[in-house]
Amino acid sequence: MTGDKTSVFADDWSGEMGQRWLRNVDHFEAMLEPMLGLDISPDLIVAARARAGADFPALRFFCGDAASAVLPAAPYDRLVSRFGSMFFADPVAAFRHLRTQLVPGARFDLAVWGPPRDNVWMMAVMGVIRAHVEVPPATPRAPGPFAFEDIDYLRDLLADAGFARVDIDDWRGDQAIGGPGRTPAEAADFALGSMSAARVLSEAGADVMAAARADLERVYAEHHDPEAGVRLGARAWLVTAA
Ligand SMILES: C[S@@+](CC[C@H](N)C(=O)[O-])C[C@H]1O[C@@H](n2cnc3c(N)ncnc32)[C@H](O)[C@@H]1O
Repeated sequence: MTGDKTSVFADDWSGEMGQRWLRNVDHFEAMLEPMLGLDISPDLIVAARARAGADFPALRFFCGDAASAVLPAAPYDRLVSRFGSMFFADPVAAFRHLRTQLVPGARFDLAVWGPPRDNVWMMAVMGVIRAHVEVPPATPRAPGPFAFEDIDYLRDLLADAGFARVDIDDWRGDQAIGGPGRTPAEAADFALGSMSAARVLSEAGADVMAAARADLERVYAEHHDPEAGVRLGARAWLVTAA
């Protein structure tokens, strides 16, 4: 089994979406089986390796581009990707390649974000960013978090890549920004530190970043509960293909 992301192990899986997806994917049952964590970012591989520690002796990591990497010890019998498959320049070619790294009929579970209007947790950040810097409008289907917002498009891509059976679960709920129990300041740290769209703020300078951060904390304070943290609406497609 392989996941195409390392941080499936690094993230908070205690939320409702994480738990539902785990039930669908049940890949943690396979934690003692040989498993490969794959990410294109060397930093994330280092972080994931540190988090995995000695708890998962059968877990290996590989830094490479999922669109083209020939994986050590392939073929694998499962592939899991949480929010990491929307960044391929040529998704059909990438999915087709990933299929070559799997045994015939292997299951591919992937979670991708639904439409932006249903992902208020991300659009809140975008609203703050746009209030401070010029951001060109998003190109539909371009690589990015919403590349597969149109689930029929993703269904077609997977079919073109050779995945014949595709099942889709439409998940809606709240996303705890940065994890449950975070304060508005911690949630803002998480959002501005992890969302690639926030990079334009760093490029615009420290004053712009500070002003945007203050705005974001104000927005988050309106959705903050000391126990639950900062929760905003989210929608994801939980997809199983084979
Ligand atoms: C939105 S993050 C999701 C991370 C994690 N799976 C999670 O759910 O929190 C997207 C991840 O995909 C990785 N990524 C993007 N393009 C990739 C590619 N072509 N091959 C491998 N990893 C890629 C990024 O480095 C990043 O870690």
